[in-house]
Amino acid sequence: MELEAILNKDKLTRDDLIDLMNLEDKEDLQKLYDKAYEVKAEYIGQKVYYRGLIEFSNVCVKNCNYCGIRKDNHKVDRFTMTEEEILDRAKWAYENNYGSIVLQSGERSDKEFIEFVDNIIKKIKELSNDELGITLSLGEQSKETYQRWYDLGAHRYLLRIESSNQELYNSLHPDDHDFKRRLECLAEMKEIGYQVGTGVMIGFPGQTIENLVDDLIFFKENDIDMVGMGPYVLHEDTPTAKDVEDNKVLKTRNLNWGLKMVAILRLLMKDINIAATTALQALNPVGREMALKAGANILMPIITHRKYRTEYQLYENKPCIDEEASDCKNCLAARVGTVGDEIVYGEWGDSPHYFKRINEK
Ligand code: 5AD
Ligand code: SF4
Repeated sequence: MELEAILNKDKLTRDDLIDLMNLEDKEDLQKLYDKAYEVKAEYIGQKVYYRGLIEFSNVCVKNCNYCGIRKDNHKVDRFTMTEEEILDRAKWAYENNYGSIVLQSGERSDKEFIEFVDNIIKKIKELSNDELGITLSLGEQSKETYQRWYDLGAHRYLLRIESSNQELYNSLHPDDHDFKRRLECLAEMKEIGYQVGTGVMIGFPGQTIENLVDDLIFFKENDIDMVGMGPYVLHEDTPTAKDVEDNKVLKTRNLNWGLKMVAILRLLMKDINIAATTALQALNPVGREMALKAGANILMPIITHRKYRTEYQLYENKPCIDEEASDCKNCLAARVGTVGDEIVYGEWGDSPHYFKRINEK
């Protein structure tokens, strides 16, 4: 089928998605990106919403094979920001009119950690007059824990599935990491009332274009509200690195796949929030702007203090680790300007899809 015909279809089939993922011609790719941007402009507006990202601890009990801060990587200096430091960052976000923040860390589910997070959520709500939106990205937890954090005021949760294919998921994780539990977590969050975000890594060893298309179909079938997916980027001190044959080839391909995935997802799920993820910028200095041009509408500026940024390296070449949050603010505003989007300050920026989903119930 002609590309134009596919781009204008109401319902894309799996074969259509595969055809789009296989596009390589420069002009064809531009048509895909332009169409995705047009859909974003129509359904969301030419807008970008910010979530200030606070990566508050790199302590992690898990051992994901691809991740630079996995438990067994003993080269990493472990840190956990103090409550005071985290609140200071949240206050900065509030004062700079970022509508919401994301609290992210390595995974822990011990009582002390859960209570630490309880307290932070409560205090952030207090210091911001209940105005700052709080998204959590704290991994797998029990349903009770998800519920108590929700009750305290967190309203969105991000948990990536990494791959919707169980075998691939298993290839990326040690045996005690359970794919089924991940799926349950997503279902539990939805039941509780969170806006649910998930995502995958794009282009890790062993993954094919067909697998990626099935990931897109997974988001659609699970009626996901927000997606944050990024290219897989090698980290030297991890087991997955050994499966990468040629890192240069991988980088070029994964940037290309990453942008295509964003654009195709925008065609498939027109009103959801799609993040322009930092991993894109690790592969190209303007990778995130390219994603905004291809249909993404969310940026997550890191607002963690400079002194902690170097130790939160999930992959190599992570950008902005020498900057301070205020530097990022100006730099990002200029970057978003080049795309032609407007930054929306002071709003939570919930996905229109979420409201449609709960109203249809
Ligand atoms: N490359 C890209 N993304 C990675 N993540 C972890 N390690 C890597 C890597 N090497 C992503 C995972 C995880 C999120 C916090 O970071 O998708 O869910
Ligand atoms: Fe821990 Fe997340 Fe890294 Fe896995 S991806 S090792 S859970 S920080």
